[in-house]
Amino acid sequence: MTDRFTIRRPDDWHLHFRDGEIMRDVVPYTARQFARAIVMPNLTPPVTTMALAEAYRARIRAAVPNGVRFEPLMTCYLTDDTDPDDLVRGAAAGVFTAAKLYPAHATTNSAAGVTNVEKIHPVLERMEAEDIVLCIHGEVTDHSVDVFDREKVFIERHLRAIVAAFPKLRIVFEHITTADAVDFVLGAGPQVAATITPQHLHINRNAMLVGGIQPHNYCLPVAKREEHRLALRKAATSGNPKFFLGTDSAPHLRKAKEAACGCAGIFGAPFALESYVTVFDEEGALERFEGFAALHGPAFYRLPVNEETITLVRGETDVPEVLTVAGEEIVPWHAGQRLGWRLVG
Ligand code: DOR
Ligand code: ZN
Repeated sequence: MTDRFTIRRPDDWHLHFRDGEIMRDVVPYTARQFARAIVMPNLTPPVTTMALAEAYRARIRAAVPNGVRFEPLMTCYLTDDTDPDDLVRGAAAGVFTAAKLYPAHATTNSAAGVTNVEKIHPVLERMEAEDIVLCIHGEVTDHSVDVFDREKVFIERHLRAIVAAFPKLRIVFEHITTADAVDFVLGAGPQVAATITPQHLHINRNAMLVGGIQPHNYCLPVAKREEHRLALRKAATSGNPKFFLGTDSAPHLRKAKEAACGCAGIFGAPFALESYVTVFDEEGALERFEGFAALHGPAFYRLPVNEETITLVRGETDVPEVLTVAGEEIVPWHAGQRLGWRLVG
């Protein structure tokens, strides 16, 4: 049995840092584990221009603890009015690593998102020509569609059409939650990949709804049936380079989660690697963990792999019931649980 192994330092290919005091307190959790992260732009107001992204990147860099090497990779929040020239300039200047498509009202701070994909066809055309990666929150917002079907319906109504219309556009289907998404990604060309969160590998929808409402297991897209979780575990641990790590760590204060209308998002950053490696261990796939966590993402984004390493050992990690950010309580993913792996640097 493998009790200890060393891999290249991983990256987080989908992450929310927020801004201000919360950002300053959550950045160190990610920087402890990851060398780089794709930072989501859904702030208020959203990060829609190169200038806003540069300023946000500077604030994040200032929050990285001394002596730690961590690089935020910025994304451009697409709206109906995105200026393709600014996006292309930002990408050429190394400010934007990707652009993010939020269907308007799909999730937290997405009100300024895209109301109709056709409106951004000129932007997607430029992105395809300039080889800029498109990250997609793949859920329809149509109220008549059941929340558990919104990802599957997005594939049929929108994603197939986007892939067909822009066959060279590199697309990351973010935080996939269904067997349908796994099948879609497997059936698409090498220009289509997906990120998978730790929570969607660990829980199905019962964890959110059985024994009372469990707000800390609520995120978007919501966890689905067990058969979907199993399909995600198979995909993540398969060694296929189309699937890679993206925590979707989305910090919301405890009071905003435990409320009559609780926010969507799971704060997975603090023990993300310990969480993922537990799944790979359970699936007998530890030898494929480095690919998922540290190799497939850079290959897809065409970035160098990290030279530093981390070591994971079998051992106890006790996840606190609660942490403090911005002087307030926040509940981390796996709160109060004991994980069977430890990150030793
Ligand atoms: O659960 C989620 N939280 N899903 C998202 O898509 C956004 C995120 C957030 O920003 O809180
Ligand atoms: Zn997200």
